[in-house]
Amino acid sequence: MTRASAPGKLILVGEHAVVYGRPAIAAPLSDVRAYAEVEPGAPGSGLRFIAPDVDMAWTAADAPEHPLSELALMALNRLGHPRLDLTIHLRSAIPIAGGMGSGAAIGTALVRALASHLGHHLTPAEIAELVYASERRFHGTPSGIDNTVVAYERPIWFERHAAAPRIEPVIIAAPLLLLIGDTGVRSATRLPVGAVRERWQADPQRYEALFDRVREVVCAARVALAEGDQVRLGHLLDENQALLECIGVSSAELERLIAAARKAGALGAKLSGAGWGGVMLALVTPATQSAVEEALLAAGAVRVLAAQVAPTSR
Ligand code: PMV
Repeated sequence: MTRASAPGKLILVGEHAVVYGRPAIAAPLSDVRAYAEVEPGAPGSGLRFIAPDVDMAWTAADAPEHPLSELALMALNRLGHPRLDLTIHLRSAIPIAGGMGSGAAIGTALVRALASHLGHHLTPAEIAELVYASERRFHGTPSGIDNTVVAYERPIWFERHAAAPRIEPVIIAAPLLLLIGDTGVRSATRLPVGAVRERWQADPQRYEALFDRVREVVCAARVALAEGDQVRLGHLLDENQALLECIGVSSAELERLIAAARKAGALGAKLSGAGWGGVMLALVTPATQSAVEEALLAAGAVRVLAAQVAPTSR
């Protein structure tokens, strides 16, 4: 039995605008992970998937269009073993369709487990590329930030470009303490992403201007992270949230949690991921953490997770 895992992720700043070529910053959530286990299957069984968390079991032969069937077949092709009999167990602690990168994490865990079962080493770039191809079939126009931050498993600056994305490490001078409040509202990424595309098509000038303002926030956030200036970073999270509201991807549930977090002393708060539901994040300190957590629960969060983003070096 070969086992592998991959982390969830949070977009700190820049979601949606990142689909239109502006930068975004994301960090892995190392403590919230997806897992894949691979073992030899009965001869002639092909690929069999078992996912008890979602109460599902399927085979690649019966469901070839399932995104994970496709991804496994694509990965095995790349690894030079297109036809194998394998049983693949999938588990995840990451809420599905919640803005925490569950799809990219399960895909990355699957590719890592298949590669290690076959004794191959794939680089983060190779894994990210395979998972991106699969996300693309599933979501339409993903920027590529989810699969990249999950495969590299470190905080990144990400910019989508036609030829290849620009991926750079982000310097984090002081540890970040984040609370993640889950609205409990599940929203498939492609819905708000599709709505933004329609609005952008109808009024490109307005949306390009909003995306440019997001870029300014992301550039300033990179400086604040490198300087360990958390007060400034908190203001930038708030500014990013105001722009996301203008872009039209916030929701009453998200805004209730964001307002509660700010009132209880968070340095800043915003939605994270695609929006219309899913999660928000609040930047807190050890002194404000418990008050903000209580406020989030009182305001209707179905769960609150604490996550630390560790400092990185130059
Ligand atoms: O909700 P998530 O975790 O799938 O994040 C989506 C991030 C977007 O910027 C809205 C879309 C994308 O492809 O980057």
